[in-house]
Amino acid sequence: MPDGGKAERPRLLIEDWLPAAAIGVECIRERSTGQQPPDKRFHVWWARRPLAASRAAVLASVLPADFPRDVFERLMGFWGPTSLIIAGEALLIAAKASGAKIVNPHGPRAFRAPLTDKDLSRAHAAAARLWGHLPIVMDPMAGGGSIPLESTRLGFPTLANEYNPVACSVLEATLDYPFRLGPTLADQSRKWGSIWRQRFVARMGRFFPLVNDSMYGEVPPLCYIFARTVPCPTTAHMTPLVPDWHLLKPKGGIALVAVPIVDRAAGTWKTEIRPVGVGPGNVPSAPARSYTKGKGISLFTGESISGDWIKAQAQAGKMGNALYAVGLKTPQGLTFRPPQQADLDALAAADSQLLQLRADWEAKNLIPTELYPEISSDHRPRSYGMPKWADMFSPRQLLGFGVLMQELQGLKAEIIAEEGEERGEAIVHLLAFVLDKLANWNSILSTWNVNAQTVRSVFDRHDFSFKFTFSEMAPVVAGGGLAWALDNACSAYEEVAKLSRSKISQVVDMSQGSATSLIHIGDNSLDAIVVDPPYSDNVQYSELADFFYVWLKRNQGHRRPEWFSSLLCENDDEAVKNDARFRNTTTSGKAAKAAAQAHYQDLMTKVFLEARRVLRAEGVLTVMFTHKKQEAWEALFESLIEAGFTITATWPIVTEGAHSLHQAKKNAAQSTVILVARVRAPRAGTGYFDAAMQARIRAVAEAAADRLSGEGLNPVDQLVGSFGPAMEVFSAFDSVRTDTGDAVSVGAAIDIAADAVAGWRIRKLAAGGLQGVEPEAQFALLCWDTLGAAEFRFNEAKLLGHAVGMDVSSLELAGLIAVKADKVNILSAADRRRDAPLREEEAQQLLFGTIQATGKKAKKSDALKIHPRDPVFRTHLDRAQALALAYADAGGGAAGIGAARALANRHGVKAGDPTVRLIEALLKASPLALRRDKGAAALKFPEFRAWHAMLQPLFGITPPDWTEKGPDQGMLALLAAKGTAVAEEEIELAADDEEEEEEGDTEQDEDDAE
Ligand SMILES: C[S@@+](CC[C@H](N)C(=O)[O-])C[C@H]1O[C@@H](n2cnc3c(N)ncnc32)[C@H](O)[C@@H]1O
Repeated sequence: MPDGGKAERPRLLIEDWLPAAAIGVECIRERSTGQQPPDKRFHVWWARRPLAASRAAVLASVLPADFPRDVFERLMGFWGPTSLIIAGEALLIAAKASGAKIVNPHGPRAFRAPLTDKDLSRAHAAAARLWGHLPIVMDPMAGGGSIPLESTRLGFPTLANEYNPVACSVLEATLDYPFRLGPTLADQSRKWGSIWRQRFVARMGRFFPLVNDSMYGEVPPLCYIFARTVPCPTTAHMTPLVPDWHLLKPKGGIALVAVPIVDRAAGTWKTEIRPVGVGPGNVPSAPARSYTKGKGISLFTGESISGDWIKAQAQAGKMGNALYAVGLKTPQGLTFRPPQQADLDALAAADSQLLQLRADWEAKNLIPTELYPEISSDHRPRSYGMPKWADMFSPRQLLGFGVLMQELQGLKAEIIAEEGEERGEAIVHLLAFVLDKLANWNSILSTWNVNAQTVRSVFDRHDFSFKFTFSEMAPVVAGGGLAWALDNACSAYEEVAKLSRSKISQVVDMSQGSATSLIHIGDNSLDAIVVDPPYSDNVQYSELADFFYVWLKRNQGHRRPEWFSSLLCENDDEAVKNDARFRNTTTSGKAAKAAAQAHYQDLMTKVFLEARRVLRAEGVLTVMFTHKKQEAWEALFESLIEAGFTITATWPIVTEGAHSLHQAKKNAAQSTVILVARVRAPRAGTGYFDAAMQARIRAVAEAAADRLSGEGLNPVDQLVGSFGPAMEVFSAFDSVRTDTGDAVSVGAAIDIAADAVAGWRIRKLAAGGLQGVEPEAQFALLCWDTLGAAEFRFNEAKLLGHAVGMDVSSLELAGLIAVKADKVNILSAADRRRDAPLREEEAQQLLFGTIQATGKKAKKSDALKIHPRDPVFRTHLDRAQALALAYADAGGGAAGIGAARALANRHGVKAGDPTVRLIEALLKASPLALRRDKGAAALKFPEFRAWHAMLQPLFGITPPDWTEKGPDQGMLALLAAKGTAVAEEEIELAADDEEEEEEGDTEQDEDDAE
């Protein structure tokens, strides 16, 4: 059997081991606490990888498998050994679940930790021995640059390529300036930025007047809250579309709302600002929304205003903006006042100033007059009357940006004259980023977050969802607006430049172009390619990047004409699935989708073919991937195999916290998978999907899952992590066929691996096996065990369904789950309860499957429900749930046990039966939240506690110990001792409200993209 060529090449660290769980912890820490790595704060780029995962992918790809673990962990920046990091995270999760306050068990974040010369030298020596020289690493789809940044920090010669010019601009400022021009560029940019700001304030200050408020005095405004308005269909008066009148809604604090006061006779409205509560001056609750569920409500007539009317008005240029609250930062904290005449006059003055300047600015090409593309996955800017990019700003906002552009262009010559061309241009580049940052936070698509009391940027979401209210910054205010953007971008740059790195770190060699054609790179010239490609239709990079492109091309086009010469971002070779590009009058939606998918897959295959060309024969291709859809996996594997690679490992890294796992409500964990591929030996031939190959796939998949479980990975990641080794068996050949010569798909091998891992997990849960237990019940068991939640994504259900040989629709038909959009919910015993027991003949029909045949389709679904007095039960899960319902009906306790015993006796259920083995396994698999006496999950699924209570008295089996233990004090002390260098914060871990939708949030974005 061929081995894909691996015999000649030594195993890499990433092919044999990886502290994946600890890397995951560091990734989550990078994201979770508002202390993101500086490169991410510098400029928006979408789907940036955590630095910890990027460093792991690079380092583990170039080191040999026998590299010492402790040195690797130090090079990863871990504050302690893997075991302590995992234990620390477990403590945090346990404390979070119990609401306890504990001292942060973790040490400094990995990406900040110093890299020592000694450890780096060991890594360089080991890598050089393996590759014959310091390995050359390339990321051909570098985006915001996490991978090349980490590669060069480690001291490896690094190349980065990227298709999108906005990303290239980000890369240049992240991977070149910090290494060539150093951190001092930040102070120089601050200096010139403050001159820029002075000139801006001199011209714009009068449009943001200090208003003497009777209550707060002369407090400078921080922000202005506007409603979008349309003419009322009956009265034609402009009426606001406000999904939520809250202005402040602090957790545990007093909420503040704007109350509209309507003068119907005059056809006007204004606002008063009121606290919510009891007592004089307060209002009992927020005023009724004037925009909800896709419709407006006229303040003047109360009539409903249809979404179509709203869009038609917007497209006819009749949508307006109405200022209804002004945010102030007072010594007592943030508050709001209603707008005063001076505010309104200033707005009007800004409008007329823009009107005066606009034609000249347009002629000088200072503001973006480009049209929003007609072909786009997101039609909303056009539907809501924003056909040009400049329309994404209110007149006063646009006036500010025009002034900023004009002043920056004037300042450029002065900067270059004083700082020289090289530094001067870099400073202008950073100032252009400041403008981009301000645009992102100061557009009519930037909203006010009433809970966090901050502004949400346009790209809070990865789209152009329309906003019915928006927040305008006061850009002239000291410490806010432009000053904030300046400080933010310059500090981010400075921190990137000061990140610890090897003495031999160098500027990354950068190129712009498609990864399908790296013509500047010779054949077999690279040692490692580490890449994080686009994931199907997750992010439409070029569509989003156009928002910045239109400004950057005006600020940077002179310096980088090759990047900024087109109208908007080029997208012909962009490797994304974008159905809109394939939708035309003759093509059906389905055909467009298929064509878009084929285009994406074709480009990805070309990217991998090109990677194969530039990689040396012993080289490694490491791919980071996030998509959970099995189809996406299959497509990726197929592209790799077609391009001549053998897959050798997959490592799931949990990169976003599984916040809700402890609640058993939703499974919110997100993993990045690091997939390792090596160049396949030439003429690897045809493999046969015979019993031997299938047995081998099963064996390696189980072994991988076992190893990953030992590494502390959760069960779903054990499953995903088994795919790589399974694929190694499959992809060692050029093609795999059945003995009759038919081609075998990658999916078939994945199914076998999934089945093997599922079987292995079931064996761990049910010592005596689950023979006789139907696949439906095995599915429910795997859901609780693997996903740990009642609600999860459709794709995860599909993956587990495959493992037990059922598809999701048959599980839905079996009455076990409810499917809504891409979410699947497991039904509880109570959800499945029928009002009355089946009659004898119905029971017979159910057992022999004749109900549907007799045409009583409606009854079939009812029949699939259960009742504790049913004469028969179809499955062991039904019987188990009926026992729990009988227990609950009798009120639990001794009476409940009695009722359950009677039912068990009636149906002959006893220890050792499949029903009882299933109950035992379910109890073992149950997540913490189900074992409690209280909490939403425990209340929804009381059957778990019922089974726990009945196991001993009914079947003589000792149930699992469910007594809840607080954080392990000994471990806490140990962690505190190891990690307290920075364990100064006390982490308060109250109930997790991550999943709660805020009222205002849900309404803004109802109009989904096509
Ligand atoms: C997932 S992102 C990379 C993110 C990056 N790892 C980071 O952490 O910032 C994928 C990138 O691939 C780029 N891309 C898409 N098609 C490409 C092509 N044909 N050639 C090169 N890059 C491409 C996109 O513009 C995007 O920046």
